[in-house]
Amino acid sequence: MGHAVVGVDNLARGTLSNLAEALTNERFRFAEADIADPVAILRVLTETRPRTVWHMVANSDIGAGVASPAIDLRDTFLTTFHLLDAMYETGTKRLAFASSSAVYGVHDEVIEETSGPLLPISSYGAMKLASEGVISAAVERFLERAWIFRFPNVIGSRATHGIIFDLLTKLKRLPEYLEVLGDGTQQKPYLHVSELVDGMMWICEHADEPLNYFHIGPPDEGVTVREIAEEVARCAAPGLPIHFTGGKKGWLGDVPRFRYSIEKLRRLGWSPRMNSAEAIRLSVEEIHREFRLRTA
Ligand SMILES: NC(=O)c1ccc[n+]([C@@H]2O[C@H](COP(=O)([O-])OP(=O)(O)OC[C@H]3O[C@@H](n4cnc5c(N)ncnc54)[C@H](O)[C@@H]3O)[C@@H](O)[C@H]2O)c1
Repeated sequence: MGHAVVGVDNLARGTLSNLAEALTNERFRFAEADIADPVAILRVLTETRPRTVWHMVANSDIGAGVASPAIDLRDTFLTTFHLLDAMYETGTKRLAFASSSAVYGVHDEVIEETSGPLLPISSYGAMKLASEGVISAAVERFLERAWIFRFPNVIGSRATHGIIFDLLTKLKRLPEYLEVLGDGTQQKPYLHVSELVDGMMWICEHADEPLNYFHIGPPDEGVTVREIAEEVARCAAPGLPIHFTGGKKGWLGDVPRFRYSIEKLRRLGWSPRMNSAEAIRLSVEEIHREFRLRTA
């Protein structure tokens, strides 16, 4: 789009090799900084003076947050809090934010953007919800425009975590069978990361309320963990037995089943091309290829 872009990450999970191509573009530069450190993020914004900030960092390891909620406080909430302060100080007035369906907690009905009560069951979800709260307050205080995207499960190339990444990691460690947490019936919607980027860009171009909040997801009710495990086995080790550990939940803080509406985004004019099953198939191939390249 011709914009100059500065990527900011503390490289806790991100890797510079992912930026090899971006770094060949003269409009891109990378700044290593801890966004939970108020001095560091103020310095980055003072030096770079962006028109819009895309706040995508968080602790993405939900299990680590269950074991120690302070991790979510720091990397998921305080990054938002200190970033907003730095934006206020530097007069930066447009923010796009990666939130999550985890803000809702457990709901039986199809979730819409206005559904409630918002009672997350993980500290990750709680810190995303708290982030949404301070963003809303910042719209009242100084932001001209904010876009909150509530993602479903996002999958695809360069994964640092998530079900496909976890299953392939286990398979490397224990190649005799594929161990799957839970009974395999957990069912969730999955969106390919390329479509997520398209959807976010569309929302920023077309939603012009001071505070905009949208689901971005596939057009279906999702696929089960069993189906994903079968796809991983088919691609990485055909014929391998799959063992389920049992129980409705994969782990503490896991919302085993959720369905959410993408009608609001459809009305804005954007729909995904891939359904959950297609996104899973493509992502298993991509992530499996990257695993093979890494061990080659
Ligand atoms: N992948 C999903 O299914 C999913 C679902 C809902 C929401 N999200 C959100 O999307 C965003 C991206 O997630 P992802 O899946 O790519 O995870 P990721 O872990 O690959 O990316 C998060 C990045 O944030 C960086 N980071 C963490 N703490 C930081 C800090 N204090 N300062 C600077 N950088 C820091 C990490 O190094 C990492 O590169 C996150 O906000 C996540 O919560 C992801």
